[in-house]
Amino acid sequence: MQNFLQPLGLNVGVIGTQWGDEGKGKLVDAMSAHFDYICRSTGGANAGHTIYNEGKKYVFRLFPSGLLHPDTIGVIGNGTVVDPIDLIFEIKSLEETGIENIRPRVKISLHAHLVFEYHKTIDAELERRKGDKKIGTTCRGIGPTYNDKISRRGIRCEDLLDKELLKEKVFANVKFHNETLGLNVDAEEEFQKIMSVRDEIKPLLTDTRILLQEALRDGKRILFEGAQAHHLDIDHGTYPFVTSSNVSSGGIATGLGFPARKITGLIGIAKAYTTRVGSGPFPTELNDQLGEDLRAAGGEFGAVTGRPRRCGWFDAVVVRNSVEFNGLDCINLTKLDVLSGIPELKVATKYLLDGQEIRTVPTTRKANQKLEVEYITLPGWEEDLSGIKDFTDLPENARSYVTTLEKLIRCPIRAIGVGMDRQDLIFRD
Ligand code: GDP
Ligand code: IMO
Ligand code: MG
Repeated sequence: MQNFLQPLGLNVGVIGTQWGDEGKGKLVDAMSAHFDYICRSTGGANAGHTIYNEGKKYVFRLFPSGLLHPDTIGVIGNGTVVDPIDLIFEIKSLEETGIENIRPRVKISLHAHLVFEYHKTIDAELERRKGDKKIGTTCRGIGPTYNDKISRRGIRCEDLLDKELLKEKVFANVKFHNETLGLNVDAEEEFQKIMSVRDEIKPLLTDTRILLQEALRDGKRILFEGAQAHHLDIDHGTYPFVTSSNVSSGGIATGLGFPARKITGLIGIAKAYTTRVGSGPFPTELNDQLGEDLRAAGGEFGAVTGRPRRCGWFDAVVVRNSVEFNGLDCINLTKLDVLSGIPELKVATKYLLDGQEIRTVPTTRKANQKLEVEYITLPGWEEDLSGIKDFTDLPENARSYVTTLEKLIRCPIRAIGVGMDRQDLIFRD
Protein backbone atom coordinates (compact mmCIF):
# COMPACT_ATOMS: atom_id res chain seq x y z
CA MET A 1 0.00 0.00 0.00
CA GLN A 2 2.80 2.47 0.87
CA ASN A 3 4.37 2.02 -2.57
CA PHE A 4 0.97 2.54 -4.16
CA LEU A 5 0.27 5.74 -2.21
CA GLN A 6 3.71 7.32 -2.26
CA PRO A 7 3.62 8.84 -5.80
CA LEU A 8 0.11 10.21 -5.22
CA GLY A 9 1.12 12.66 -2.50
CA LEU A 10 -0.83 13.91 0.52
CA ASN A 11 -4.18 14.95 -0.96
CA VAL A 12 -5.71 12.23 -3.10
CA GLY A 13 -9.03 11.90 -4.91
CA VAL A 14 -10.90 8.72 -5.82
CA ILE A 15 -13.17 9.07 -8.87
CA GLY A 16 -15.64 6.67 -10.52
CA THR A 17 -14.81 6.23 -14.20
CA GLN A 18 -17.96 4.49 -15.47
CA TRP A 19 -21.57 4.90 -14.24
CA GLY A 20 -21.06 4.37 -10.52
CA ASP A 21 -20.77 1.39 -8.20
CA GLU A 22 -17.25 0.61 -9.39
CA GLY A 23 -16.08 -0.10 -5.83
CA LYS A 24 -14.92 3.37 -4.76
CA GLY A 25 -15.89 2.75 -1.15
CA LYS A 26 -13.77 -0.37 -0.90
CA LEU A 27 -10.55 1.36 -1.99
CA VAL A 28 -11.29 4.42 0.16
CA ASP A 29 -11.74 2.14 3.15
CA ALA A 30 -8.53 0.27 2.38
CA MET A 31 -6.58 3.55 2.02
CA SER A 32 -8.12 5.37 4.96
CA ALA A 33 -5.69 4.10 7.57
CA HIS A 34 -3.12 6.32 5.81
CA PHE A 35 -5.22 9.51 5.83
CA ASP A 36 -6.43 11.99 8.46
CA TYR A 37 -9.48 13.42 6.68
CA ILE A 38 -11.91 11.63 4.34
CA CYS A 39 -14.15 14.03 2.43
CA ARG A 40 -17.29 13.89 0.34
CA SER A 41 -17.62 16.86 -2.00
CA THR A 42 -20.74 16.14 -4.06
CA GLY A 43 -23.95 14.13 -4.16
CA GLY A 44 -25.89 12.84 -1.20
CA ALA A 45 -27.54 9.65 -0.08
CA ASN A 46 -27.94 8.61 -3.72
CA ALA A 47 -24.49 7.05 -3.24
CA GLY A 48 -24.18 3.58 -1.75
CA HIS A 49 -20.67 2.44 -0.88
CA THR A 50 -20.46 -1.12 0.42
CA ILE A 51 -17.52 -2.34 2.43
CA TYR A 52 -16.67 -5.77 3.75
CA ASN A 53 -14.15 -6.06 6.51
CA GLU A 54 -13.45 -9.48 8.00
CA GLY A 55 -16.76 -10.73 6.64
CA LYS A 56 -18.82 -7.87 8.14
CA LYS A 57 -20.82 -5.65 5.77
CA TYR A 58 -21.13 -1.87 6.08
CA VAL A 59 -23.06 0.45 3.75
CA PHE A 60 -22.15 4.14 3.64
CA ARG A 61 -24.41 6.57 1.83
CA LEU A 62 -23.63 10.16 2.70
CA PHE A 63 -20.97 9.35 5.25
CA PRO A 64 -17.43 8.95 3.98
CA SER A 65 -16.48 5.25 3.99
CA GLY A 66 -13.18 6.07 5.69
CA LEU A 67 -14.99 6.45 9.03
CA LEU A 68 -14.53 2.74 9.66
CA HIS A 69 -11.01 3.61 10.77
CA PRO A 70 -11.18 4.98 14.32
CA ASP A 71 -8.84 7.95 13.87
CA THR A 72 -10.25 9.47 10.68
CA ILE A 73 -12.34 12.64 10.44
CA GLY A 74 -15.19 12.58 7.92
CA VAL A 75 -16.03 15.79 6.09
CA ILE A 76 -19.31 16.38 4.24
CA GLY A 77 -18.62 19.39 2.05
CA ASN A 78 -20.59 22.40 0.83
CA GLY A 79 -21.17 20.73 -2.54
CA THR A 80 -23.18 17.87 -1.04
CA VAL A 81 -26.89 17.70 -0.30
CA VAL A 82 -27.72 16.52 3.20
CA ASP A 83 -30.90 14.72 4.15
CA PRO A 84 -30.85 15.23 7.92
CA ILE A 85 -33.33 12.45 8.69
CA ASP A 86 -31.43 9.96 6.54
CA LEU A 87 -28.20 11.18 8.07
CA ILE A 88 -29.27 10.49 11.65
CA PHE A 89 -30.59 7.11 10.51
CA GLU A 90 -27.22 6.38 8.88
CA ILE A 91 -25.32 7.43 12.03
CA LYS A 92 -27.49 5.17 14.18
CA SER A 93 -27.12 2.21 11.79
CA LEU A 94 -23.33 2.66 11.75
CA GLU A 95 -23.26 2.97 15.56
CA GLU A 96 -25.21 -0.29 15.76
CA THR A 97 -22.57 -2.04 13.64
CA GLY A 98 -20.05 -1.13 16.35
CA ILE A 99 -18.22 1.80 14.71
CA GLU A 100 -17.12 3.96 17.61
CA ASN A 101 -17.09 7.64 18.29
CA ILE A 102 -18.78 8.63 15.02
CA ARG A 103 -20.43 11.90 15.99
CA PRO A 104 -17.32 13.77 17.16
CA ARG A 105 -15.58 12.68 13.94
CA VAL A 106 -18.18 14.02 11.51
CA LYS A 107 -17.97 17.57 10.20
CA ILE A 108 -20.79 18.80 7.99
CA SER A 109 -20.52 22.04 6.02
CA LEU A 110 -22.77 24.88 7.12
CA HIS A 111 -23.19 25.57 3.41
CA ALA A 112 -24.40 22.15 2.32
CA HIS A 113 -28.01 22.21 1.16
CA LEU A 114 -30.75 20.37 3.04
CA VAL A 115 -32.85 17.66 1.41
CA PHE A 116 -36.44 17.74 2.67
CA GLU A 117 -39.14 15.12 2.38
CA TYR A 118 -40.80 17.30 -0.28
CA HIS A 119 -37.70 17.02 -2.47
CA LYS A 120 -38.22 13.26 -2.55
CA THR A 121 -41.91 13.77 -3.34
CA ILE A 122 -40.95 16.07 -6.23
CA ASP A 123 -38.27 13.61 -7.44
CA ALA A 124 -40.81 10.78 -7.61
CA GLU A 125 -43.49 12.98 -9.16
CA LEU A 126 -41.20 14.34 -11.92
CA GLU A 127 -40.09 10.81 -12.73
CA ARG A 128 -43.71 9.70 -12.92
CA ARG A 129 -44.53 12.53 -15.32
CA LYS A 130 -41.59 11.62 -17.58
CA GLY A 131 -43.10 8.15 -18.14
CA ASP A 132 -40.84 6.02 -20.34
CA LYS A 133 -38.36 8.91 -20.59
CA LYS A 134 -37.64 8.80 -16.87
CA ILE A 135 -34.05 9.13 -15.63
CA GLY A 136 -34.37 6.27 -13.17
CA THR A 137 -33.22 8.41 -10.24
CA THR A 138 -32.68 7.01 -6.78
CA CYS A 139 -35.70 9.13 -5.68
CA ARG A 140 -33.62 10.54 -2.82
CA GLY A 141 -34.58 14.12 -3.72
CA ILE A 142 -31.13 14.88 -5.12
CA GLY A 143 -32.12 16.68 -8.35
CA PRO A 144 -34.87 18.81 -6.77
CA THR A 145 -32.53 19.89 -3.94
CA TYR A 146 -29.81 20.96 -6.39
CA ASN A 147 -32.53 22.66 -8.41
CA ASP A 148 -33.48 24.77 -5.36
CA LYS A 149 -29.78 25.49 -4.77
CA ILE A 150 -29.13 26.75 -8.28
CA SER A 151 -32.40 28.69 -8.29
CA ARG A 152 -31.19 30.42 -5.11
CA ARG A 153 -34.08 29.40 -2.91
CA GLY A 154 -32.33 26.44 -1.25
CA ILE A 155 -32.20 25.92 2.50
CA ARG A 156 -28.71 25.32 3.85
CA CYS A 157 -27.47 23.57 6.96
CA GLU A 158 -26.66 26.97 8.48
CA ASP A 159 -30.40 27.74 8.41
CA LEU A 160 -30.88 25.08 11.08
CA LEU A 161 -29.27 27.48 13.54
CA ASP A 162 -32.14 29.99 13.34
CA LYS A 163 -35.50 28.36 14.04
CA GLU A 164 -37.64 31.32 12.93
CA LEU A 165 -35.76 31.78 9.67
CA LEU A 166 -35.88 28.04 9.04
CA LYS A 167 -39.66 28.00 9.46
CA GLU A 168 -40.07 30.98 7.16
CA LYS A 169 -37.96 29.36 4.43
CA VAL A 170 -39.66 25.97 4.69
CA PHE A 171 -43.09 27.52 4.41
CA ALA A 172 -42.04 29.69 1.44
CA ASN A 173 -40.50 26.76 -0.42
CA VAL A 174 -43.38 24.41 0.19
CA LYS A 175 -45.78 27.10 -1.05
CA PHE A 176 -43.65 27.61 -4.16
CA HIS A 177 -43.51 23.89 -5.00
CA ASN A 178 -47.16 23.28 -4.22
CA GLU A 179 -48.11 26.12 -6.57
CA THR A 180 -45.74 25.32 -9.41
CA LEU A 181 -46.20 21.55 -9.40
CA GLY A 182 -49.74 21.25 -8.06
CA LEU A 183 -48.58 19.27 -5.02
CA ASN A 184 -50.20 19.06 -1.65
CA VAL A 185 -47.23 19.10 0.72
CA ASP A 186 -47.95 20.09 4.32
CA ALA A 187 -45.40 22.78 5.33
CA GLU A 188 -45.95 22.38 9.07
CA GLU A 189 -45.30 18.63 8.79
CA GLU A 190 -42.07 19.28 6.85
CA PHE A 191 -40.98 21.80 9.46
CA GLN A 192 -41.71 19.46 12.37
CA LYS A 193 -39.81 16.63 10.68
CA ILE A 194 -36.68 18.73 10.33
CA MET A 195 -37.07 20.03 13.87
CA SER A 196 -37.11 16.45 15.17
CA VAL A 197 -33.46 15.99 14.14
CA ARG A 198 -32.21 19.58 14.38
CA ASP A 199 -30.61 19.24 17.81
CA GLU A 200 -28.73 16.13 16.75
CA ILE A 201 -27.40 17.73 13.55
CA LYS A 202 -26.39 21.12 14.96
CA PRO A 203 -23.25 19.94 16.82
CA LEU A 204 -21.94 18.36 13.60
CA LEU A 205 -22.01 21.61 11.61
CA THR A 206 -18.97 23.73 10.90
CA ASP A 207 -17.24 25.72 8.17
CA THR A 208 -15.49 22.75 6.61
CA ARG A 209 -13.54 24.99 4.21
CA ILE A 210 -11.65 26.48 7.13
CA LEU A 211 -11.18 23.03 8.66
CA LEU A 212 -9.55 21.81 5.44
CA GLN A 213 -7.46 24.94 4.97
CA GLU A 214 -6.02 24.35 8.44
CA ALA A 215 -5.50 20.66 7.67
CA LEU A 216 -3.67 21.63 4.49
CA ARG A 217 -1.49 24.13 6.34
CA ASP A 218 -0.65 21.48 8.98
CA GLY A 219 0.39 18.96 6.33
CA LYS A 220 -2.44 16.52 7.13
CA ARG A 221 -3.32 13.79 4.64
CA ILE A 222 -6.66 14.32 2.91
CA LEU A 223 -8.61 11.75 0.90
CA PHE A 224 -11.49 12.78 -1.35
CA GLU A 225 -14.07 10.03 -1.73
CA GLY A 226 -15.85 10.42 -5.05
CA ALA A 227 -19.51 9.53 -5.38
CA GLN A 228 -21.31 8.54 -8.61
CA ALA A 229 -18.94 8.69 -11.58
CA HIS A 230 -17.62 10.72 -14.48
CA HIS A 231 -20.34 9.53 -16.88
CA LEU A 232 -23.02 10.59 -14.38
CA ASP A 233 -21.55 14.11 -14.12
CA ILE A 234 -24.10 16.85 -14.84
CA ASP A 235 -21.78 18.43 -17.45
CA HIS A 236 -19.60 15.59 -18.71
CA GLY A 237 -21.92 12.61 -18.39
CA THR A 238 -24.62 11.16 -20.60
CA TYR A 239 -26.99 14.11 -20.10
CA PRO A 240 -29.87 14.08 -19.21
CA PHE A 241 -29.31 10.60 -17.77
CA VAL A 242 -26.97 11.88 -15.10
CA THR A 243 -27.02 13.03 -11.50
CA SER A 244 -27.31 16.71 -10.63
CA SER A 245 -23.80 17.66 -9.55
CA ASN A 246 -20.20 17.78 -10.79
CA VAL A 247 -18.97 14.41 -9.64
CA SER A 248 -15.82 14.48 -11.79
CA SER A 249 -12.51 15.66 -10.33
CA GLY A 250 -13.44 19.36 -10.72
CA GLY A 251 -16.17 18.88 -8.13
CA ILE A 252 -13.58 18.26 -5.41
CA ALA A 253 -12.40 21.86 -5.55
CA THR A 254 -15.82 23.50 -5.70
CA GLY A 255 -17.58 21.00 -3.46
CA LEU A 256 -15.15 21.51 -0.59
CA GLY A 257 -13.63 24.91 -1.25
CA PHE A 258 -10.33 23.08 -1.61
CA PRO A 259 -7.68 24.61 -3.89
CA ALA A 260 -7.57 22.54 -7.09
CA ARG A 261 -3.79 22.96 -7.33
CA LYS A 262 -3.35 21.23 -3.97
CA ILE A 263 -4.92 17.95 -5.11
CA THR A 264 -1.78 15.88 -5.48
CA GLY A 265 -3.09 12.65 -6.96
CA LEU A 266 -6.17 11.14 -8.58
CA ILE A 267 -7.15 7.48 -8.71
CA GLY A 268 -9.87 6.27 -11.06
CA ILE A 269 -11.97 3.25 -10.14
CA ALA A 270 -13.03 1.01 -13.02
CA LYS A 271 -14.92 -2.26 -12.81
CA ALA A 272 -13.45 -5.06 -14.95
CA TYR A 273 -16.78 -5.00 -16.83
CA THR A 274 -19.43 -2.24 -16.94
CA THR A 275 -22.63 -1.66 -14.99
CA ARG A 276 -25.24 1.04 -14.89
CA VAL A 277 -28.41 1.60 -12.83
CA GLY A 278 -31.20 3.74 -14.18
CA SER A 279 -31.85 4.78 -17.77
CA GLY A 280 -29.52 6.12 -20.43
CA PRO A 281 -27.10 4.97 -23.12
CA PHE A 282 -24.89 1.96 -22.45
CA PRO A 283 -23.10 0.94 -25.66
CA THR A 284 -21.63 -2.36 -24.39
CA GLU A 285 -24.76 -3.55 -22.54
CA LEU A 286 -25.45 -7.29 -22.63
CA ASN A 287 -29.18 -7.93 -22.86
CA ASP A 288 -28.74 -11.67 -22.76
CA GLN A 289 -27.98 -14.58 -20.48
CA LEU A 290 -24.36 -13.49 -20.10
CA GLY A 291 -25.55 -10.10 -18.79
CA GLU A 292 -27.69 -11.91 -16.26
CA ASP A 293 -24.86 -14.24 -15.31
CA LEU A 294 -22.56 -11.25 -14.71
CA ARG A 295 -25.24 -9.64 -12.54
CA ALA A 296 -25.54 -12.79 -10.46
CA ALA A 297 -21.79 -13.41 -10.20
CA GLY A 298 -21.01 -9.78 -9.32
CA GLY A 299 -24.00 -9.31 -6.99
CA GLU A 300 -25.00 -6.36 -9.16
CA PHE A 301 -27.94 -4.97 -7.23
CA GLY A 302 -27.99 -1.35 -6.01
CA ALA A 303 -27.01 -0.74 -2.40
CA VAL A 304 -29.49 2.18 -2.13
CA THR A 305 -32.51 1.03 -4.09
CA GLY A 306 -31.88 -2.71 -4.54
CA ARG A 307 -32.46 -2.27 -8.30
CA PRO A 308 -30.75 -4.78 -10.60
CA ARG A 309 -27.80 -3.14 -12.34
CA ARG A 310 -27.55 -3.36 -16.12
CA CYS A 311 -24.36 -5.26 -17.06
CA GLY A 312 -22.07 -5.27 -20.08
CA TRP A 313 -18.52 -5.61 -21.39
CA PHE A 314 -15.65 -3.38 -20.33
CA ASP A 315 -15.75 -0.22 -22.41
CA ALA A 316 -12.28 1.24 -22.94
CA VAL A 317 -13.73 4.32 -24.65
CA VAL A 318 -15.71 5.17 -21.51
CA VAL A 319 -12.77 4.70 -19.14
CA ARG A 320 -10.22 6.39 -21.45
CA ASN A 321 -12.53 9.37 -21.59
CA SER A 322 -12.58 9.53 -17.78
CA VAL A 323 -8.79 9.21 -17.62
CA GLU A 324 -8.36 12.16 -19.97
CA PHE A 325 -11.05 14.47 -18.57
CA ASN A 326 -10.13 13.93 -14.93
CA GLY A 327 -6.36 13.74 -15.32
CA LEU A 328 -6.18 10.40 -13.53
CA ASP A 329 -2.78 9.16 -12.35
CA CYS A 330 -3.71 5.50 -12.07
CA ILE A 331 -6.59 3.04 -11.99
CA ASN A 332 -7.90 0.52 -9.49
CA LEU A 333 -9.50 -2.21 -11.61
CA THR A 334 -12.14 -3.89 -9.45
CA LYS A 335 -14.02 -7.18 -9.54
CA LEU A 336 -11.59 -9.01 -11.80
CA ASP A 337 -12.57 -12.15 -9.86
CA VAL A 338 -16.13 -11.91 -11.19
CA LEU A 339 -14.92 -12.65 -14.73
CA SER A 340 -13.49 -16.10 -13.84
CA GLY A 341 -15.15 -18.85 -15.86
CA ILE A 342 -16.18 -16.77 -18.90
CA PRO A 343 -14.42 -18.41 -21.90
CA GLU A 344 -14.01 -15.23 -23.97
CA LEU A 345 -14.08 -11.61 -22.90
CA LYS A 346 -14.98 -8.76 -25.21
CA VAL A 347 -13.68 -5.22 -24.73
CA ALA A 348 -14.95 -2.15 -26.61
CA THR A 349 -12.05 -0.25 -28.12
CA LYS A 350 -13.56 2.32 -30.47
CA TYR A 351 -16.81 4.08 -31.39
CA LEU A 352 -17.77 5.00 -34.94
CA LEU A 353 -20.62 7.35 -35.79
CA ASP A 354 -21.36 7.80 -39.51
CA GLY A 355 -17.92 6.37 -40.23
CA GLN A 356 -16.13 8.90 -37.97
CA GLU A 357 -14.41 7.97 -34.72
CA ILE A 358 -15.97 9.66 -31.68
CA ARG A 359 -14.39 9.75 -28.26
CA THR A 360 -17.34 9.94 -25.86
CA VAL A 361 -20.69 8.23 -25.45
CA PRO A 362 -23.22 10.08 -27.63
CA THR A 363 -26.07 11.63 -25.71
CA THR A 364 -28.90 11.52 -28.23
CA ARG A 365 -31.04 8.45 -28.77
CA LYS A 366 -30.61 8.75 -32.54
CA ALA A 367 -26.81 8.76 -32.35
CA ASN A 368 -26.80 5.83 -29.94
CA GLN A 369 -28.97 3.80 -32.30
CA LYS A 370 -26.47 4.39 -35.12
CA LEU A 371 -23.36 3.95 -32.97
CA GLU A 372 -20.98 1.21 -34.12
CA VAL A 373 -18.85 -0.26 -31.36
CA GLU A 374 -15.60 -2.05 -32.24
CA TYR A 375 -14.51 -4.85 -29.94
CA ILE A 376 -11.51 -7.06 -29.37
CA THR A 377 -11.92 -10.53 -27.90
CA LEU A 378 -9.55 -11.80 -25.24
CA PRO A 379 -9.26 -15.32 -23.82
CA GLY A 380 -10.78 -15.80 -20.36
CA TRP A 381 -9.58 -17.90 -17.41
CA GLU A 382 -11.14 -20.57 -15.23
CA GLU A 383 -9.23 -20.12 -11.98
CA ASP A 384 -10.71 -18.62 -8.81
CA LEU A 385 -8.73 -15.44 -8.07
CA SER A 386 -9.62 -15.12 -4.40
CA GLY A 387 -6.71 -14.92 -2.03
CA ILE A 388 -4.19 -13.92 -4.71
CA LYS A 389 -1.90 -11.17 -3.41
CA ASP A 390 0.66 -10.85 -6.17
CA PHE A 391 0.11 -9.84 -9.77
CA THR A 392 2.48 -12.55 -10.98
CA ASP A 393 0.26 -15.22 -9.34
CA LEU A 394 -2.76 -14.30 -11.47
CA PRO A 395 -3.52 -16.67 -14.37
CA GLU A 396 -1.72 -15.60 -17.54
CA ASN A 397 -4.95 -14.66 -19.32
CA ALA A 398 -6.04 -12.49 -16.38
CA ARG A 399 -2.70 -10.70 -16.46
CA SER A 400 -2.95 -10.10 -20.17
CA TYR A 401 -6.56 -8.84 -19.73
CA VAL A 402 -5.21 -6.23 -17.27
CA THR A 403 -2.22 -5.20 -19.40
CA THR A 404 -4.38 -4.97 -22.53
CA LEU A 405 -6.89 -2.73 -20.73
CA GLU A 406 -4.21 -0.40 -19.43
CA LYS A 407 -2.87 0.12 -22.93
CA LEU A 408 -6.36 0.84 -24.24
CA ILE A 409 -7.27 3.30 -21.50
CA ARG A 410 -3.78 4.86 -21.52
CA CYS A 411 -3.38 4.78 -17.76
CA PRO A 412 -1.53 2.38 -15.45
CA ILE A 413 -3.67 -0.11 -13.53
CA ARG A 414 -1.89 -0.06 -10.19
CA ALA A 415 -4.44 -1.82 -8.00
CA ILE A 416 -6.65 -4.82 -8.79
CA GLY A 417 -9.64 -6.05 -6.82
CA VAL A 418 -10.01 -9.81 -6.56
CA GLY A 419 -12.73 -10.06 -3.90
CA MET A 420 -15.07 -8.09 -1.67
CA ASP A 421 -12.98 -7.85 1.46
CA ARG A 422 -10.69 -4.94 2.30
CA GLN A 423 -7.75 -7.35 2.00
CA ASP A 424 -8.66 -8.60 -1.49
CA LEU A 425 -6.48 -6.13 -3.35
CA ILE A 426 -3.37 -6.62 -5.46
CA PHE A 427 -1.01 -3.64 -5.74
CA ARG A 428 1.44 -3.24 -8.64
CA ASP A 429 4.45 -0.99 -8.56
P1 GDP B 1 -19.18 2.26 -4.99
O1 GDP B 1 -20.50 2.91 -5.01
O2 GDP B 1 -18.30 2.67 -6.12
O3 GDP B 1 -18.48 2.36 -3.66
O4 GDP B 1 -19.46 0.70 -5.23
P2 GDP B 1 -20.63 -0.17 -4.52
O5 GDP B 1 -20.23 -0.42 -3.12
O6 GDP B 1 -21.96 0.42 -4.78
O7 GDP B 1 -20.58 -1.48 -5.42
C1 GDP B 1 -19.44 -2.24 -5.53
C2 GDP B 1 -19.72 -3.64 -4.96
O8 GDP B 1 -18.68 -4.51 -5.38
C3 GDP B 1 -19.73 -3.69 -3.45
O9 GDP B 1 -20.66 -4.66 -3.03
C4 GDP B 1 -18.32 -4.12 -3.10
O10 GDP B 1 -18.25 -4.85 -1.88
C5 GDP B 1 -18.00 -5.04 -4.25
N1 GDP B 1 -16.58 -5.07 -4.64
C6 GDP B 1 -15.69 -4.05 -4.70
N2 GDP B 1 -14.51 -4.48 -5.19
C7 GDP B 1 -14.68 -5.80 -5.44
C8 GDP B 1 -13.81 -6.82 -6.00
O11 GDP B 1 -12.68 -6.57 -6.37
N3 GDP B 1 -14.36 -8.07 -6.13
C9 GDP B 1 -15.64 -8.37 -5.75
N4 GDP B 1 -16.08 -9.61 -5.91
N5 GDP B 1 -16.46 -7.44 -5.23
C10 GDP B 1 -15.98 -6.19 -5.08
P1 IMO C 1 -22.30 5.51 -6.15
O1 IMO C 1 -21.58 6.61 -5.40
C1 IMO C 1 -24.79 4.36 -9.50
C2 IMO C 1 -27.72 7.29 -10.93
C3 IMO C 1 -29.16 6.91 -10.74
C4 IMO C 1 -29.78 7.60 -11.95
C5 IMO C 1 -28.98 8.90 -12.02
C6 IMO C 1 -29.66 10.09 -11.35
O2 IMO C 1 -22.81 4.44 -5.26
O3 IMO C 1 -21.48 5.03 -7.29
P2 IMO C 1 -30.09 10.75 -8.83
O4 IMO C 1 -30.82 10.05 -7.72
O5 IMO C 1 -28.65 11.04 -8.50
O6 IMO C 1 -30.81 11.98 -9.31
O7 IMO C 1 -30.10 9.72 -10.06
O8 IMO C 1 -27.75 8.64 -11.37
N1 IMO C 1 -26.90 7.25 -9.69
C7 IMO C 1 -26.04 6.27 -9.41
N2 IMO C 1 -25.75 5.13 -10.07
N3 IMO C 1 -24.11 4.68 -8.39
C8 IMO C 1 -24.36 5.83 -7.73
O9 IMO C 1 -23.62 6.24 -6.69
C9 IMO C 1 -25.39 6.67 -8.21
N4 IMO C 1 -25.91 7.85 -7.82
C10 IMO C 1 -26.82 8.20 -8.73
O10 IMO C 1 -29.34 5.51 -10.80
O11 IMO C 1 -29.50 6.87 -13.12
MG1 MG D 1 -22.55 2.44 -5.07
